[in-house]
Amino acid sequence: MSISKLMQKLDMTHPIIQAPMAGGGDTPPLVAAVSAAGGLGSIGAAYLSPAQIAEAARQVREKTDRAFAINLFAPLPVPDRPSETRAAIERLKAFYEELGLPEPELAATASTDFDAQLAAVLESGARGFSFTFGMVPEAAIAAAKSKGLVVMGTATTVDEAVALERAGVDAVIAQGSEAGGHRGSFLTDFEMAMVGTMALVPQVVDAVKIPVIASGGIADGRGLAAALALGAEAVQIGTAFLTTEEAGIAEAYKERLLAVTEVESRLTRAFSGRPARGLVNRVMTKVEDPALASAVLPFPWQNALTRPMRSAATQQNKTDYLSLWAGQAVRLLRRQKAADLVTSLVTEMETTIDRLRRRK
Ligand SMILES: Cc1cc2nc3c(=O)[nH]c(=O)nc-3n(C[C@H](O)[C@H](O)[C@H](O)COP(=O)(O)O)c2cc1C
Repeated sequence: MSISKLMQKLDMTHPIIQAPMAGGGDTPPLVAAVSAAGGLGSIGAAYLSPAQIAEAARQVREKTDRAFAINLFAPLPVPDRPSETRAAIERLKAFYEELGLPEPELAATASTDFDAQLAAVLESGARGFSFTFGMVPEAAIAAAKSKGLVVMGTATTVDEAVALERAGVDAVIAQGSEAGGHRGSFLTDFEMAMVGTMALVPQVVDAVKIPVIASGGIADGRGLAAALALGAEAVQIGTAFLTTEEAGIAEAYKERLLAVTEVESRLTRAFSGRPARGLVNRVMTKVEDPALASAVLPFPWQNALTRPMRSAATQQNKTDYLSLWAGQAVRLLRRQKAADLVTSLVTEMETTIDRLRRRK
């Protein structure tokens, strides 16, 4: 298959980007394995300090000479620290007890220093810089481009894709509603921006001149071929990489991913205060019980409030208390090495394209 300009710049042999997965899923061995296999690995660095970003990048570089990307959350205004936190704490208290943790307590601050994170990205040796949750300052885009990085922004609607193109990004990641993890929406109401990948990608392709990367619900070579047929130059896959050997999530989370069906992946604000797609569990059900009043703090405060619970749950291998981010294509997941997943995706894509060619 031909190599597009975007793929050339990112040193990719295959049109496959491993999605950044902030929170520990995307370990340096996973990122390096995907890049070494001819895809593009990405480090989800949104929750990392500048020193941690430098260290993660160093570990990737130690394992491969090939290009990789780093991803940040766009700097959003952080709402004032909520003064009323009782209801949110009350809703989580029993879970903290079950994990042997002291009562939940809201941290004094929840902001991250985007400028310092970006400075670390620019010095990290990464070839790509991607972002989600909104627009980054145009100066940040210009700084990354002047350092030779390929800049990619996330859109969940056509208007968002057009706004990103105007701001100067090199490529747009079209994130369909099937996607696991947080929604990247920033111009439209979250609920209105739940457009499926199949509908979103060709409409974005028609609206912008820059390359489009399809993301959401793609987990095998049929999905990859379909995304290319819709006009995407590459795909960004998250959930399917979570069940690879190198992924850094709890073993019980991997097992649950391999056992669930598509209807168990739902949108929730329970863990972070911002809509994200993940597998239903006890925390999700209790925090968002429709029979009870809302008890979710705004992002990023809810995220800060639930962090100790999620960290303890990872250590204790307990899925009931974790944010089990996952997209809708869960029945397609396999347990294998990341490089083998890249190879299977490519082989299946070629088989699919051949099959379509033979159709009368
Ligand atoms: C566990 C997990 C964490 C994620 N974290 C990020 C992130 O830090 N930054 C980002 O841009 N996207 C993140 N995403 C979303 C992915 O970029 C992508 O849109 C999504 O995984 C695609 O859908 P799929 O999971 O069905 O492949 C995350 C997805 C998952 C599953």
